[in-house]
Amino acid sequence: MDFSGRHIMSIQDFSRDELEHIFKVASDMEKYVKTGSDTLKNKILASLFFEPSTRTRFSFTSAMYRLGGNVLGFDDPEMSSKAKGETLVDSIRVIDSYADAIVIRHTIEGIVELAAEYSNVPIINAGSGTLGHPTQAMLDLFSILREKNTIDGLTIGILGDLKYGRSVKSLAYGLANYDVKLVLIAPELLRMRRDILEDLSEAGKSIREVPYLEETISDLDILYVTRIQEERFPDPSEYEKVKGYFIISKKSLKSAKDDLIVLHPLPRVGEISTDVDSTKHARYFKQSYYGLMVRMALLSLIMS
Ligand code: CP
Repeated sequence: MDFSGRHIMSIQDFSRDELEHIFKVASDMEKYVKTGSDTLKNKILASLFFEPSTRTRFSFTSAMYRLGGNVLGFDDPEMSSKAKGETLVDSIRVIDSYADAIVIRHTIEGIVELAAEYSNVPIINAGSGTLGHPTQAMLDLFSILREKNTIDGLTIGILGDLKYGRSVKSLAYGLANYDVKLVLIAPELLRMRRDILEDLSEAGKSIREVPYLEETISDLDILYVTRIQEERFPDPSEYEKVKGYFIISKKSLKSAKDDLIVLHPLPRVGEISTDVDSTKHARYFKQSYYGLMVRMALLSLIMS
């Protein structure tokens, strides 16, 4: 399977076979997390983050270093020529001659796709607007696979901000490749967009929507929790209505299956209390580690 030179724009661009190839390569990468490798020696990744990030930016950077490559870029766009008014397209037309791939996080939907139209090197969407975070979805699927040895047959609860969160949308589309039951857990104000639900129904997914975790906790094999995305609410008073709606604690998991695992793309800001961290269910920090393996796989696949 050849991924060389391919842009990574949307999880929907990837078939199940392609995802499984990425997951196999990600597992093969685990040995290099410790030993390092020269797979990407002399390759350069440009890392352009127009929005804050810890995991995505650091794990792409770490993945490059662990594979023997180099990274240039910024995490403060005001220190780039954007501050002088340069468009992203003009920046890309310059940076693509300095780097072998470009990873971009941006607030504006569609702008990463626009950048890809002008780039001579592969572009990776590291999260854009409220719609897509494809590499997060890949690492979420990989985490499920690693922890459960399968994705097919599972009942997966996705809880939190399903309206503004981009990870949950990409994950839902990624899960559409598998034989799963989805339970979407959110208050009315944060329900998933109808068009996405229609897409999932057309893909034959069984979907149930409930407002509270208690209604479904005992059914779940996976509980995927997300934070309420305060920064994306157009009206701050709407945020006040849902702030603190979910706080998952050890007590909330009392009637969970023994082997339920709890995932979260992180950062968390109170929606999973720290008393869950020491339970047998918590996997969210390990999930971040799996992200490193998946990003090593993607970088080696598109740049090798
Ligand atoms: N999960 C995720 O995208 O985290 P960061 O915003 O820290 O990159």
